[in-house]
Amino acid sequence: MSLQAVIRSVSHYVPTRRVTNDDLSKLMETSDEWITERTGIKERRFIESDAVTTSTLGEAAARKALEKAGWAPEELDLIVVATLSPDLYFPGVGVLLQQRLGCRTIPALDIRAQCSGLVYGLSCVDGFVKSRQAKKILLVCAEVQSPVLDLTTRGRDMAVLFGDGAGALTIEAVDEVDGAGAAKRGIIDSFLGSDGSGAEVLCMKLPGTARPGFIKASDIEAGLVHPKMDGKVVFKNAVTRLLETAHTLLKRNGVSPGDVSLVVPHQANLRINEMVRQELKLPPERVFNNIQRYGNTTAATIPICLSEAVEEGRLKQGDLVLTLAFGAGFTWGGNLVRW
Ligand code: UT7
Repeated sequence: MSLQAVIRSVSHYVPTRRVTNDDLSKLMETSDEWITERTGIKERRFIESDAVTTSTLGEAAARKALEKAGWAPEELDLIVVATLSPDLYFPGVGVLLQQRLGCRTIPALDIRAQCSGLVYGLSCVDGFVKSRQAKKILLVCAEVQSPVLDLTTRGRDMAVLFGDGAGALTIEAVDEVDGAGAAKRGIIDSFLGSDGSGAEVLCMKLPGTARPGFIKASDIEAGLVHPKMDGKVVFKNAVTRLLETAHTLLKRNGVSPGDVSLVVPHQANLRINEMVRQELKLPPERVFNNIQRYGNTTAATIPICLSEAVEEGRLKQGDLVLTLAFGAGFTWGGNLVRW
């Protein structure tokens, strides 16, 4: 019998420090009006101090998810972490969480798929489940991005977009069919893609081995230590790939957009998500957005949305969920999940 990867719980954690658009306009030439109109963002969260790292946020989200599932850390047999902002150049955040949570010496790995981290992560977890390599899995998506933003007018195009935060899911391998003849719960299908020709359209060049040696003062002057993006190119590719992902997953599973209880897209720009919603002909309540309050938390956006959707009663057991993501790489993809 084939195993299903069933999501047992989802949780999130964001730093307490709220940074509004007006706060940013005191640091750079920008305005609440520009940011709201172009992106939908009103505020984001930044870490309170340098002592807070990606694994700190990840651990907080993970502990809440484990508690909701009723699992002790020792029960886990795999940790998967998605992040573009690890605590260290190496090793990854997965092993830091293995130690911080007090897990057994289970496998722990990091995924580098940027804003597509959650959708790549769920697909990876599904593979571990289907190949019977893991039964109880923790998937953590966490980012601390504020320290590398250029919070001056020079970096305003990127600085106003991003925030810090984390989400975590517990996923269990089960071979049950819920109820009498009811649809199977769990990850039904995933679709992933990449196009490295877009690597430099959205990237942060340093630190990296493409530029040998240590970071030099001139690199800092040149802004190579901050993320850079050609926003318009990314925007167009995002809409195209998100729709391609949605249509592919729906078609090959014989599902129409109307059958989906909730679409949970990556939170990069409210206008992108609105275009996707209109193209799929869905009413606003069928698409979950919270970019207004958190900005773009990269890998963490979708699990934070899922967690809030559950808390708000907009996502219940048995619902059909479609996740959609696009980000640096380019990478993109989605998952069709029976919650
Ligand atoms: O998560 C990964 C995936 N990321 C995305 O999907 C993001 C995709 N891209 C976008 O969301 C949008 O392209 C942005 C929100 C990043 C930018 O919006 P836009 O409508 O494409 O604006 P733009 O970059 O064309 O900039 C328009 C103007 C420029 O001024 P000029 O040249 O027209 O005089 C910018 O200098 O807005 C200026 N500008 C700003 N003004 C005030 C850029 N950033 C700011 C700012 N405040 N923060």
